[in-house]
Amino acid sequence: MPNLKAFFNPASIALVGASRTPGKIGYSILENLKESFQGKIYPINPAANEILDLKCYPSVLDIKEPIDIAIITVKAETVKSVLEECIKKKINGVIIISSGFSEISEKERELELKKMAKGKIRIIGPNVLGIYTKGLDTLFLSKEKFKRPKEGNIAFISQSGAVGSAIMDLIGYEGIGISKFISYGNALDVDEVELLDYLGKDVETRAIAMYLESTKRGPELIKVAKKIKTPIVCLKAGKTQKGTQAVLSHTGALAGTAEIYSGAFKQAGIIEAQTTEELFDFAKVLSSQPVLKNNKIAIITDGGGFGILSTDAAIKSGLELPSLSKESAAALKKILPSYAITENPIDLTGDATAERYQKSLEIVFKDPNISGVVCIALLQIPTLEDSIIDVLRECKIYGKPFVVCMCGGVYTIERARKLEEFGIPVYPTPERAVKAIATLYQYGQILKKK
Ligand code: COA
Repeated sequence: MPNLKAFFNPASIALVGASRTPGKIGYSILENLKESFQGKIYPINPAANEILDLKCYPSVLDIKEPIDIAIITVKAETVKSVLEECIKKKINGVIIISSGFSEISEKERELELKKMAKGKIRIIGPNVLGIYTKGLDTLFLSKEKFKRPKEGNIAFISQSGAVGSAIMDLIGYEGIGISKFISYGNALDVDEVELLDYLGKDVETRAIAMYLESTKRGPELIKVAKKIKTPIVCLKAGKTQKGTQAVLSHTGALAGTAEIYSGAFKQAGIIEAQTTEELFDFAKVLSSQPVLKNNKIAIITDGGGFGILSTDAAIKSGLELPSLSKESAAALKKILPSYAITENPIDLTGDATAERYQKSLEIVFKDPNISGVVCIALLQIPTLEDSIIDVLRECKIYGKPFVVCMCGGVYTIERARKLEEFGIPVYPTPERAVKAIATLYQYGQILKKK
């Protein structure tokens, strides 16, 4: 059986159901493929000679050259005959975008495809958006409405295409980078287990974010996730009785109870996100920071209130704020004004400068009592200028986990994005920053058991 590599590194792609009509799915995909993909593209449409300046073919069987993968965008009733031709043509894999299968109780239609494909061709879908990775954009969403995320090291797999694309749109706007995105829908063949296994070996991926409604292979999911050294964060949907019913009518699968899933995630070493926000908050920190070896952190702020909020959040998350060593406390006292707070959480106060941050961070990072740092930089104060970005990005040299909270409007957001370009995770609230560093501790504990 061909493995999944064919889907991510194809040399040639056929689009079966390429449409002549702008706005139709088969047209949008062709547009996006043409723009993103350097290999050979074969639009298939028996009624067309040419679409978007590309020569059309009536069927994949009319193409002499080999084809690596096919994307199928014909109506559900026509998918079977198209798949038959793809098998005959010895295509490695197909992505079936079409809806109209088990998600609308057309289980037989899906089973037929499964039987035909077994041992001969790989299938992603049906009922999917497809794949997005460097040099390959099979999404049917316009670039005008949905700016694609930049290249990065988080892989994102989503059972739901709509959740996947909306979140990708959002994280693209937030500046988070993606290595691979896969919408796998009804998971007729390729499912979350195989995708995790594949992404766990992917050198471009440093964290995996996953939106999951259900799995049909619980034990295998646990086994594969346990084996993988790449951190996995999962957002499980369908946790209430009503939600579980909604899952059934979305992808035609049984969701199981929330407790069963949470237990399985724990066993598998998968970090469970409770909200959409947490999914990428956690993936972001896990993909860019080392693990927190114990629960001892320091908080440095230029606003006392934020120091308290983050301390509360830290204690709630099971973290500790130990006292600094005698030497560090004395060194801090020496460089800080008398009105600054040198106890952890450390308050550099409202006239903090980038230089004050730099000197204090150096002392705190080098303190043996401290394993990780949450730095709150409220940029609204007049003394804090853009050089704070350089100071914070330099903290990478200490090799300890580091997260930053910058809370504010456009001015702050622009600078937060700049800092993130250097691989420092920035969060808009102290609670989110603290939860992120707590995740590094949680993952450290998971790794000890692997
Ligand atoms: N081989 C190749 N092309 C074929 C074909 C065949 N056997 N049969 C028809 N076509 C052509 C059609 O002529 C049409 O081209 P045209 O627009 O130039 O006439 C094109 O393929 C598309 O077929 P059409 O029958 O017009 O379908 P459609 O565009 O109305 O709808 C889907 C097709 C797949 C988009 C639709 O059925 C669907 O499933 N939509 C929902 C998709 C979705 O939401 N997926 C999940 C995302 S998360």
